[in-house]
Amino acid sequence: MNQKNFYRGKHILLVGASGGLGQELARQLAARGAGRLVLSGRNEAALAALADEVRAAGTAADVLPCDVRDRDALARCLERALEGGLDGAFLACGVAPGKSADGLEEPEEMTRCFAVNVLAPASALVLLCRGWERAGRGRRFAVVVTSQAGLLPLPFAPTYAASKAAMNALGEGLRDRLAAAGAALTLVMPGFFDSPMGRRFRGKRKWFSLSAEEAARRTLDGTARGEARCIFPWELACGIWLANHLPARIVKPVMQAFAFDTAPDEESAARGREDGRR
Ligand SMILES: NC(=O)c1ccc[n+]([C@@H]2O[C@H](COP(=O)([O-])OP(=O)(O)OC[C@H]3O[C@@H](n4cnc5c(N)ncnc54)[C@H](OP(=O)(O)O)[C@@H]3O)[C@@H](O)[C@H]2O)c1
Repeated sequence: MNQKNFYRGKHILLVGASGGLGQELARQLAARGAGRLVLSGRNEAALAALADEVRAAGTAADVLPCDVRDRDALARCLERALEGGLDGAFLACGVAPGKSADGLEEPEEMTRCFAVNVLAPASALVLLCRGWERAGRGRRFAVVVTSQAGLLPLPFAPTYAASKAAMNALGEGLRDRLAAAGAALTLVMPGFFDSPMGRRFRGKRKWFSLSAEEAARRTLDGTARGEARCIFPWELACGIWLANHLPARIVKPVMQAFAFDTAPDEESAARGREDGRR
């Protein structure tokens, strides 16, 4: 089957569908003839508007709002998505913690980051694996969007980088069991791309930054090719490979040129205001 037809008629779950990448994945999946999309995230208005767009393109769409930090809600969402057969899932939820005025990340932000970036997608993989084992033979796929940040410890975004490294390791650990359940796992590791999260990364040089459309296209093509790890753009990946192999005295000054700050999202800003009042 060629890549363009890979998604035709398939029933696909999208977690993080309300985000910049998630919305683009949904649009492009509909354009590639997906049969049914199950759209999940917290922003119900964004999900409903996206479902209308997807339906207008001829793909059935269901909306299942869920805060992925709520383990029971996530399990219910996965059960519902598995009903009637599920061919694949894109787990594209994620958060990047902001810092406090002293430049450190709060433990609450670390907890949130690991809950959304690691525990939720890893739990979802386990639940999908069980569901697909129950369903029997099939040709399926599971995709987790991690990041090239997981390939190198980042002093300017330590928790985000650690969470993505942890998810890469967890995914690799689950790969064989998923394969036994008929599901090929693709770990997608993008560099920078333009999205609400991407715009919160404020750096001097966001080198090789892509549009969300391009990031979604590469994610879909890599998954359709059955890539175990879909890493893009390659130019940034080469830089990271070098940084992992060259002496620290060379790497540290170069890393400074790449340093970025993360502006707070709504939730971390609200927490900051709350802390300020105490
Ligand atoms: N943008 C970049 O430069 C970049 C680079 C490398 C990797 N990535 C990764 O790519 C993925 C997609 O990122 P993006 O740029 O599209 O980010 P985004 O626009 O900020 O979207 C993030 C998504 O995660 C969902 N989410 C966050 N917290 C959640 C929670 N507690 N429960 C349920 N859903 C939650 C959001 O849903 P609601 O809005 O509905 O809460 C949204 O759908 C993430 O894993 C990110 O780490 C991004």
